[in-house]
Amino acid sequence: MQKVLIIGAKGMLGQELVSIFKSDEQYKVTAWDFDKIDITDENQTKEKINKLAPNIILNAAAYNAVDLCEKDKAEFEKAKKLNGKAPGYLAKVAKKLDATLVHYSTDYVFSGMPELPEPAGCGGSCSSCSLHEGFVPQIGFDEDAITKPVQKYGKTKLMGEQAVQKSGEKYYIIRLSKLFGKPAKSKTAKKSFFDVMLEVGKKNAEVKVVDEETSCFTYAPDLAKKTKEIIEANKPFGIYHVVNEGACTWFEAVVELYKMAKLKTKVIPVNSDEFPRPAQRPYVSTLINTRLNPMRSYKLALREYLKGIK
Ligand SMILES: NC(=O)c1ccc[n+]([C@@H]2O[C@H](COP(=O)([O-])OP(=O)(O)OC[C@H]3O[C@@H](n4cnc5c(N)ncnc54)[C@H](OP(=O)(O)O)[C@@H]3O)[C@@H](O)[C@H]2O)c1
Repeated sequence: MQKVLIIGAKGMLGQELVSIFKSDEQYKVTAWDFDKIDITDENQTKEKINKLAPNIILNAAAYNAVDLCEKDKAEFEKAKKLNGKAPGYLAKVAKKLDATLVHYSTDYVFSGMPELPEPAGCGGSCSSCSLHEGFVPQIGFDEDAITKPVQKYGKTKLMGEQAVQKSGEKYYIIRLSKLFGKPAKSKTAKKSFFDVMLEVGKKNAEVKVVDEETSCFTYAPDLAKKTKEIIEANKPFGIYHVVNEGACTWFEAVVELYKMAKLKTKVIPVNSDEFPRPAQRPYVSTLINTRLNPMRSYKLALREYLKGIK
């Protein structure tokens, strides 16, 4: 029997990890949240995890208040501790125990300005050679793309990736984007974008939504399932991108949402300037997955989610 430790177990992702691993008898699951362990405390982390001696550690704990940590120094320090340093403590203890560590990261480690790939064989010096005809470049960032976060939250998550790479051995870094699913059971629970927009749509005849920031959604139950598959398939350790198919802007996603929820609310596309926020968002942060079988589209996942909350 494999002992699995899930940290951040009451979070949006954590609760789905608990449910998927608990449903399989070959795993003995320990689910810890902030009330059971503070992973920013290195000694406590080392002691508690060494005592438990898990074979697999899943770290779903994180600081996710993107705007708050941009404008508040103390909050940025908190984010650095939890997102930047704690993953390194986990990587060290996992290495000592010869355990596998799964750590989650974000599309916000990227700049938002991907290089446009050229078709193979074209030196990139032309704009209209025959190779370009019908060539539709996949715009986004693959697992090896250069990281360059444009806001403080992304910087702290990149620090965490680097800490795991520096101190760890058997690790998976899974990047995801725009997580949605059942709201977390934890104190700091944030509603996902779709839940917020459903509420707004029910109360208003029209809503303005930013038609920028193209990226993918990740449905928490699909990510939990994929995490288990990656481990069980003994995939090579390293970085993975786990997103539902179908990159889109916030506006495009809300149009789909209201169609599925049969809401008549008018959706008006606007630029991000209409909703200034402290932290800059990447203009495009589509995660390209080249290492795993693709997951179902976010539209199918969203339809399933909406059925479940009716
Ligand atoms: N949400 C998104 O849209 C999104 C996008 C991209 C990537 N991600 C990444 O996906 C992963 C999961 O995110 P999520 O949205 O599921 O997170 P979440 O719902 O905010 O849950 C995080 C959990 O971590 C716990 N926690 C906080 N501080 C802790 C500490 N010092 N020690 C132990 N546990 C602590 C929290 O407990 P309390 O609430 O009790 O403090 C909470 O239960 C994270 O790595 C996140 O960065 C998320």
